[in-house]
Amino acid sequence: MGSLLKAKNVGVSFPLLGGFKYAVDGLDLSLEAGTITALVGESGCGKSVFAQTVMRLIEHTSKVFTKGEIVFDGLDLLGAPLKEVSRLRGRLISMIFQDPISSLHPLLTIGQQIIEPLVLHLGLSRAKAMVLAQELLERVGISQPQKRLKQYPFELSGGMCQRVMIAMAVCCKPKLLIADEPTTALDMTARGKVLDLIGEMRTFNMAVLLISHDLASVKKVSDKIAVMYLGHLVEEGSASEVLNNPSHPYTRALLMARPSMSGSKPETLPAIPGQAVRGKSACRFAPRCPLAKPKCESEAPPILGQNHKTRCFWPQEGAFKILT
Ligand SMILES: Nc1ncnc2c1ncn2[C@@H]1O[C@H](COP(=O)(O)OP(=O)(O)O)[C@@H](O)[C@H]1O
Ligand SMILES: [Mg+2]
Repeated sequence: MGSLLKAKNVGVSFPLLGGFKYAVDGLDLSLEAGTITALVGESGCGKSVFAQTVMRLIEHTSKVFTKGEIVFDGLDLLGAPLKEVSRLRGRLISMIFQDPISSLHPLLTIGQQIIEPLVLHLGLSRAKAMVLAQELLERVGISQPQKRLKQYPFELSGGMCQRVMIAMAVCCKPKLLIADEPTTALDMTARGKVLDLIGEMRTFNMAVLLISHDLASVKKVSDKIAVMYLGHLVEEGSASEVLNNPSHPYTRALLMARPSMSGSKPETLPAIPGQAVRGKSACRFAPRCPLAKPKCESEAPPILGQNHKTRCFWPQEGAFKILT
């Protein structure tokens, strides 16, 4: 099966006083139709910068340098004229963001906002678009859709607003959906439902890039998991491989850093010591890694493997029990 999107050696850097800061560094990632790929890692590791680079939105935020290739359906998104890429936005590639309430326009009704892409990209009349908007709201599980279409975002809960965002993102049947922390701003009950809804996108043969800082929270819906640390991909494989046999010490540490819901005693939450700062070590995780050896300080580990890839000289083996 060919990939719908193939990122090759992608680098994104911001100019700093006297140098550059790489937010994404040598990232290779492929996304397949009908597959949900989770991109996980702690805050600041470069997930959103990568997502915004795919959409070419990053260059609107600041001066930025990119390298490598991101080939989507035969088109190199980094090399193509910006106008050509912006024509794909909302139509073939859609994105949903972390905070649904601030992503919606506060002064327009839900109906006005949903019909905009339908009129713009599908050329529907406003009346036909309104009928389709109602159907879309029903499909994403919003009750009383007729009433909701007339309401403003502040009248809806966070979970409902995120459903509206999903309806807007999928209304033109895009081939790729990028969901950047779509559940982070929601409460626990809304989270599960929004993730289930994202899982349903497989049935439309959509490729989904699901971004999260919480590895365990994406386990329910992901087919593939890619773990990022300080701009690098450190591990990638099928969701079951990465969750059950994580081979990078960072992935193991991420899985450990979750509170246990079982047992009656409050426990101390294991945390990864230190901070994610670029040090002198060749392996970026070495300063925080319990398994670091002198080689990690002098030589950068390559990412190796076929189906299950790891950027570590000493990949871990053996089953790993996720705390629940
Ligand atoms: N416009 C920008 N200018 C300079 N640095 C930025 C900009 N946007 C993001 N960064 C930096 O890039 C790194 C990656 O950020 P981001 O992709 O937002 O992380 P996350 O993984 O939490 O989504 C961070 O160190 C962040 O401070
Ligand atoms: Mg982010």
